[in-house]
This record gives sequence, structure tokens and C-alpha cells, in this order.
Amino acid sequence: MSLDYDVIIIGAGAAGLFAGSNCTKRGLSTLVVDHAAKPAEKIRISGGGRCNFTNLETDAKRFLSENPHFAKSALARFTPWDFIALMAEHGLTYHEKTLGQLFCDQKSGAIIKMLLDELEKHGGTLQLSTDVRNVRKSNDQFSVQTSTGELRARHVIIATGGLSIPKIGASGFGYEIARQFGHDIVETRPGLVPFTFSGQTKERFASLSGVATNVDVESENGTRFHEAMLFTHRGLSGPAILQISSYWSPGEPVHVDFLPGTDLSAQLTEARHDQPRKKLSDLLAQWLPNRLVADLLAELKIDKRAGDLSNKDIALISGRLQNYALTPTQTEGYRTAEVTVGGVDTAGLSSKTMESRHCPGLYFIGEVVDVTGWLGGYNFQWAWASAHAAAMAI
Ligand code: FDA
Repeated sequence: MSLDYDVIIIGAGAAGLFAGSNCTKRGLSTLVVDHAAKPAEKIRISGGGRCNFTNLETDAKRFLSENPHFAKSALARFTPWDFIALMAEHGLTYHEKTLGQLFCDQKSGAIIKMLLDELEKHGGTLQLSTDVRNVRKSNDQFSVQTSTGELRARHVIIATGGLSIPKIGASGFGYEIARQFGHDIVETRPGLVPFTFSGQTKERFASLSGVATNVDVESENGTRFHEAMLFTHRGLSGPAILQISSYWSPGEPVHVDFLPGTDLSAQLTEARHDQPRKKLSDLLAQWLPNRLVADLLAELKIDKRAGDLSNKDIALISGRLQNYALTPTQTEGYRTAEVTVGGVDTAGLSSKTMESRHCPGLYFIGEVVDVTGWLGGYNFQWAWASAHAAAMAI
């Protein structure tokens, strides 16, 4: 027996559920299917359990994509304020943490409940624990073979997300479907992910584990973030590192300025004159954690009073601390990455509707597409906006 719908959405994550509720609101018979036993697990674990659901600074410039203009249209037509308005209808409140990042005052589960209520309210159906085997198209009709039988629809939306955190349901299924229908895939890699190191550097960083400090970090292509960096048992993490990891390629260094906004050379030259008895370690401890100062000075093999610093010493210390090149061995990979960089090539999609240029009626939304946001709520905003764009077009 087969069941017919206007729209079948594969993937009941952030993008899939939101597309589902928007389609049903428009009077379309809609089914959302997912192979997982629970919907939207990534929303549940996001933002430390409070879901950083959007960012007030949303702008296409804060997304990575082979086509930096692709996200503009969808983001302009569904803004953070549109999602906030929906939350208000459901009695959900929020707070801004930092850098425009909005978190739910309630637990993340409240956002999932809101999306499920919206889907149900307008008559949409959610079918979980359903393996999707293949998607075929003939005569303007899609046939979706699943573990529970054949489903048919006039439109199919692929919302299967990226490859990160496979243990909660991530799969490469969306990319397989895209290839099958003639789409290119921009090479995928883990993004928003901690760096790992090996050998002596790993041991050094492990001994500093738990130390955090504000840094400027810059990638080889000149992208720069000013945020906190955290030393861990495996290497480096914290927002600054997660952000720059999306711009990192294996083998490349990243450049860390441990004293952003400070001209260390000028400060040391001044201290040589004004505070000659002051130990270098005490001077640096004004700006950096003690454990980090001890580690950096041990590496530089300098332990002097300010008055004894030569011009060469000052150049060495400031050069090193304000442009510290680190080459990660690798990243922690998809096991812990918050996102997948790359995905379905936007060249094959309409930026207004997310519809495939190769197969009318087929849509790709959310993280499966080659649009990846910075840390801080941008990825959910892309999920909402791309879902909305597709639903409005059907
Ligand atoms: P998503 O991954 O949400 O959903 C995909 C769905 O498809 C899943 O339910 C999956 O089971 C299903 N699926 C996959 N393969 C399938 C198949 N073969 N058949 C059927 N179903 C299939 N972003 C942000 O903006 N703010 C934040 O606070 C965070 N925090 C955060 C924390 C952690 C730990 C992670 C891992 C990620 C985040 N993110 C985030 C990123 C954010 O979660 C992510 O970008 C969105 O969930 C993407 O939404 P999608 O709906 O595209 O994919």
C-alpha cells in the first residue's frame, strides 16, 4: 500500500520540522520522516541545553559557502525576529548572552515541543524510526521507499543535516540523494570543532588543561576571531578555536595573539624604564593566567627583570606572544564537531526556494546544503530560514 502526500520531508531536525509546520500551515498534506527514534536531538543538546536558537547579528557574511551570496535571500526573508515572534506565540522567552547570541530561557526541549505543536496543529504527520531506503521520481511524482512501505509525494524536501555526531542519527544520506539527482557535493569536513595536537605540544597543552584566555586567532586566509581559547587534555578548544576550525585545512598553522589590543613591545619598553625591578613573569601576569605565563616563558627560556630586557629580548617576547603559530595535528572530527562544512553545492539550487535545478520538486534545506554558520546561533537561523524559503515556494 502506498500513501500520498503533497510534501514528504526527510529528516525531523531543526530544518525538517520547521519546514513541516510551514508546509502544513499552507494547507499542504505533509509527512516528516526520520530514522531516529526521537526528533531534533541536536536542538535538545544545543547551547548547553538552552538552545542558542538564533543570532541578532545574522548576515550572510557570517556563513561559509562556495557562493557567499547564496544565503542572502532566505536570510532576508526569515529573520531572527520572525523566529522570536513564533516563540512569543508559544510563551517562550529568551536572553542574549554575548555577541548577539540568543538562548531560550526554557530548556531546549521547549523549542522542540513548539515545532512539534506547530506541525500537529495544522495537521502534519511525524513518522519516526523509519529508514528511508531510496527516493525515485517518475511522472512528476516522487516515490520514497522506507522500512514501513512506499510513500508518494509531489514534493520531497531533504533535511537530513550534516555528518556531525553520528551517534545521534547523522548520516550522509542527503549527499547520496543529491548525487543521485545530479548535484555536486562541495567536499565536507568537520567544523566548529576542537583542535588536537601530538607529541610534546599535546603534553604541554594537557599540562595547561583548564586554562582559558581571550585571544585573537587568525587563519592562513586572514579570517580573525576575538574570543576565548581553552587548553584541553587533547589540545585546544573554546569559542575562538571552534570558530577558526571552520576555516582551517590540515597542515596549516593558525596564529594566536595572546594579548589582543595590547602593544606588548611598547609595554615592555616602558616597563624597562618605569618598573626595572619588576619580574617579566609578574608583568605578563597582569594580562595572562599565571600557568600560561610560566609555560610561555619556559619555552622562550627568558626569566629576567624588566630593567634587564634587551631590545632583542623584547622583540622575541612580543613577536612570539602576539603571533604564536600553532599547527594542529588534526581536529576531534565528526565525533564532536558542531557542524559539517561543505555539502550540497549551491550552484545546483535556487537561492530563493532551495529547489533543485536538476530535479523540479526536490528541495535541500538546512545543514545538508553548503552553507555553514559561525558559532553562536547562526546554524539554527539558517535551518529556519532555508526551511521557510522552501515551504513558501511549494
Ligand atoms: P539536523 O542534524 O538537526 O537534523 C537532521 C535530521 O535528519 C536528524 O533528525 C537525523 O536523524 C535525520 N536523518 C539523517 N539521516 C537520515 C536518514 N538517512 N533517514 C532519515 N532521517 C535521517 N547551532 C546553533 O545555531 N546553535 C547552537 O546552540 C548549536 N549547538 C550545537 C551543539 C551541538 C553539540 C551540535 C552537534 C550542533 C549544534 N548546532 C548549533 C548546530 C545545529 O544543531 C545544526 O546546524 C542544525 O541542527 C542543523 O539542522 P538540520 O535540520 O539541517 O539538521
